[in-house]
Amino acid sequence: MNALANIPVAIPDLRGNEAAYLARCVADNWVSSAGPFVADMERRVAEITGTAHSVATVNGTAGLHLALLAAGVGPGDRVLVPDWTFAATANAVFHAGAEPFFADIADDSWTLDVAAARRIIGQPDNRIRAVIAVHALGHPAELAPLGAICRDAGVALIEDAAGALGAQYQGRQVGGFGDFAVFSFNGNKTVTAGGGGMVVTNNCRAAERMRRLSAQSREAPAYRHDEVAFNYRMTNLNAAVGLAQLERLDDMLAAKRALAATYDRALAGRADLTPMPRRDWALSSHWLYAVLCSSPDCADGLVAYLAERAIDSSIFWLSLSAQAPYADCPRQLAGISRGISGRVVVLPSSSSLSPEDQARVIAALGMWRQSAGQ
Ligand SMILES: Cc1ncc(COP(=O)(O)O)c(C=O)c1O
Repeated sequence: MNALANIPVAIPDLRGNEAAYLARCVADNWVSSAGPFVADMERRVAEITGTAHSVATVNGTAGLHLALLAAGVGPGDRVLVPDWTFAATANAVFHAGAEPFFADIADDSWTLDVAAARRIIGQPDNRIRAVIAVHALGHPAELAPLGAICRDAGVALIEDAAGALGAQYQGRQVGGFGDFAVFSFNGNKTVTAGGGGMVVTNNCRAAERMRRLSAQSREAPAYRHDEVAFNYRMTNLNAAVGLAQLERLDDMLAAKRALAATYDRALAGRADLTPMPRRDWALSSHWLYAVLCSSPDCADGLVAYLAERAIDSSIFWLSLSAQAPYADCPRQLAGISRGISGRVVVLPSSSSLSPEDQARVIAALGMWRQSAGQ
């Protein structure tokens, strides 16, 4: 019997102009961040998100760092961060010299809980200077009330939209709701640049500052610098791939949404595997399709069961506040993030996943129920 081909969780979908644009970089000798694709990609992301300015970066983490600095975050400050997110969200706060304050997520969206954010920001002497609302796995955070809370308190709202390009909140593209929004173009994202990030904002001065900070704050061509800064600029090679990917954004989003709808139908009525919750004001980008298992052991068992059938899956995001690097960070939690931690399994979600391969995943999920005797 032939061995089954492995089905990955999320691989790049490079069926457009990626190779042609890379070849152009080589032919034109523009490989560094001074090349023209970088500005083209910036313009395109600003257009998609309906924002006035965009700054391309080497990755999303660097983008978060720049956004925090542009928001005025520094030593002595705290930044409200959901407890259920990728470590980069909290790490960027440390890079800015500040401290994450972990808040819980809502159980009906797995994004920052609005009531918790309101309560924490309302507490005296909280030192909170910014809020990072994470669009979890492509599902938008509840941006309207979070925006109002931040405006009233005079703190910045940063959308961590790492995997959420193309997601919509109340019918509008995410990215333009916060003071800043940050996208990632890492290899596992719907749109990849190999590695890369983008900060979008409507604040012209902040955009200029982030652009300078990303390039050693140098007044080129002279070697004059006005601030200690970073080498965070995206290269032309990465932007070539990213720009080609953006040409196919609508198709890739449609493919992801179709995959999600098929998984939804297959899982309907199952009590042991619950799809990630979705709110009616959200149109997720469906970067990754996630299910909640009844316990961490069940999640481990599911991942192992699928692996035996050459299907990759992954336990996604553990509560950050429970982990050693963040042990001393302040937090106010109600048990939601801790409750799902270790129980969320991400299923194969590549936009190039074939119907046959998705059917293989769904068949395995069906068998797993039987084998677990449920
Ligand atoms: C929620 C979130 N924030 C930030 C990042 C960091 O992006 P990057 O890997 O491009 O630095 C990621 C990456 O997966 C992410 O999922």
